[in-house]
Amino acid sequence: MAETMKGLKRTNRCAELSVANVGQTVTVMGWVQKSRNKGGIIFVDLRDRSGLLQIIFEGTDIDEAGFAKAEKLRSEFVIAVVGTVEKRQGGVNPNLATGEIEIRAKDLRVLSESDTPPFPIEEDSKTKEELRLKYRYLDLRRPDIQRNIMLRSKVTAKVREFMTNEGFLEIETPILNKSTPEGARDYLVPSRVHPGTFYALPQSPQLFKQLLMCSGYDRYFQIAKCFRDEDLRADRQPEFTQIDMELSFVDIDDVLDVNERLLQTVFKDAIGIDIALPLQRMTWQEAMDRFGSDKPDTRFGMELVNVTDVVKGCGFSVFTSAIEAGGSVRGINAKGQGEMPRKKIDALVDFAKGYGAKGLAYIAIQPDGSYKSSFAKFMTEDEMKALVDAMGGEANDLLLFAADRNKIVYSVLGALRLELAKQMDLLNPDQFNFLWVTEFPLLEWSDEEERFMAMHHPFTMPMEEDWQYIDSDPGRVRAKAYDIVLNGVELGGGSVRIHQNDIQSKMFEVIGLSKETASERFGFLLDAFRYGVPPHAGLAFGLDRMIMLMAKADSIREVIAFPKVKDASCLMTDAPNVVDPIQLDELQIAIKAVEEKGE
Ligand code: AMO
Ligand code: AMP
Repeated sequence: MAETMKGLKRTNRCAELSVANVGQTVTVMGWVQKSRNKGGIIFVDLRDRSGLLQIIFEGTDIDEAGFAKAEKLRSEFVIAVVGTVEKRQGGVNPNLATGEIEIRAKDLRVLSESDTPPFPIEEDSKTKEELRLKYRYLDLRRPDIQRNIMLRSKVTAKVREFMTNEGFLEIETPILNKSTPEGARDYLVPSRVHPGTFYALPQSPQLFKQLLMCSGYDRYFQIAKCFRDEDLRADRQPEFTQIDMELSFVDIDDVLDVNERLLQTVFKDAIGIDIALPLQRMTWQEAMDRFGSDKPDTRFGMELVNVTDVVKGCGFSVFTSAIEAGGSVRGINAKGQGEMPRKKIDALVDFAKGYGAKGLAYIAIQPDGSYKSSFAKFMTEDEMKALVDAMGGEANDLLLFAADRNKIVYSVLGALRLELAKQMDLLNPDQFNFLWVTEFPLLEWSDEEERFMAMHHPFTMPMEEDWQYIDSDPGRVRAKAYDIVLNGVELGGGSVRIHQNDIQSKMFEVIGLSKETASERFGFLLDAFRYGVPPHAGLAFGLDRMIMLMAKADSIREVIAFPKVKDASCLMTDAPNVVDPIQLDELQIAIKAVEEKGE
């Protein structure tokens, strides 16, 4: 019974109409949100991506056949309606942009019918995410997801406009690349023409954008798909999008300046948020010391306090032995939580253990000023008082302490601080706190690999004043690297790059990459640098994360049209899937026996 559009042309999207159009004859097309038959009058909410519009069918305006069709309308039927715009008779609906008007239908065509959808197409869906993702094409009809996807489009349009105005050229880089394992695991694509060899999908356009600087393009940007085979979380997808850029003849301040203006423009134009410039900057060391994190959420305090000196000579061996082993003792003060029940404190201890803590020591200051504490028995009264004073402890405060290697103390208290902020409802969703974190360490010791690894990537420039320590104390060398953090989420990061071959070779040496391996992996880049390379620097934003934060969504899955789930599969298409043996034959690939699940 489906009809065609022949002879009809849509005049307006649903929510583009308003009282200004009253009296006009319009043609609208879209999906039936809901249809109500009030005996002789049928009300239909028509939906398209702009919003909802009420249509009213009455036998006085539409012929019998048309009315009969209207009686059969069900949710998600696709229809075309010709009618006149009228002021609503039945009272204004203030919840609807088009709440003051309705369309009195003169003609109706059913362009397509619909089965009953597996879940209602509505705002704030209560439907389980698995079901939503299986039927993502239906889920994508929901107004909140549509808003996110439209916001994303608006942002990328603004980014292109801003970058172009700033003299950046949009240049595409290849997707089929040579594998140069750096951070995450590569996704590989087998070559048919060269059996036994593989392309890797880009983890980022890093090397190509540096080559573009070598080639004189001066300022490059790209909205680039990146692929990383890593464990997924709420803010990580195996394929994601970067706003990627690189600039020649610049230093840190130039990169930070253009990027904060980009953020200011995009946040203002896309969501109407004013960002005051310059953005706050903080060194990595300060971020770790104050917040226990290199991506601190600065919307609330509860900062770490280093009490190592205060407890140095105390009687509690957990503290003193951590200090003797070269570690520290630090605490946070959860204000007003002194009466937290023991069970909840125990849960915090378990939480801390999840981040590598051996335990979590606490002092719960009671309303009368007395202490409940897991270690008071090891301390003198004076020692306890000195510790409480150092923490700014008052009646009703809960003081929590970690004693360990600095790395663990930071990660435990950094995570605990966030967890408590959630429990204490300290995170204001309407606040946007941007922060540059600068002066990252160049290298990070890996216990697993027993070697130093590049903290950002091996092309990152060390700070001149620290380069002298590269042999004697590599961990002390800071890098010209920076991250941009928004409300505790790493939104982007970048660095000034090494453009001198001697520094680059030394860097490879320090991270244990032999000349041969370096040349085998990055030879093309090193060769290019022999032919005149400008000083250059760059940065990449995670676009998905940016939109997630703008849209106040819980996960980047809410702002990606077709996302993958935790095990990197697509619930809608069932990717990844087995392929035809003929395809494997062509690639000369044999599959090793796959163990049955559960064996
Ligand atoms: P980096 O690896 O820090 O830097 O990535 C830049 C930004 O990309 C986002 N991001 C992700 N988003 C979603 N899912 C993921 N799996 C994922 N991984 C990263 C983050 C991150 O801050 N080439 C360098 C940039 C440079 O030096 O110019 C790079 O890729 O928001
Ligand atoms: P214990 O003497 O091991 O029972 O520990 C006494 C208290 O210290 C308990 O509350 C432990 O959770 C806590 N604790 C143990 N190890 C640490 C540590 N490394 N840092 C902070 N507190 C700890």
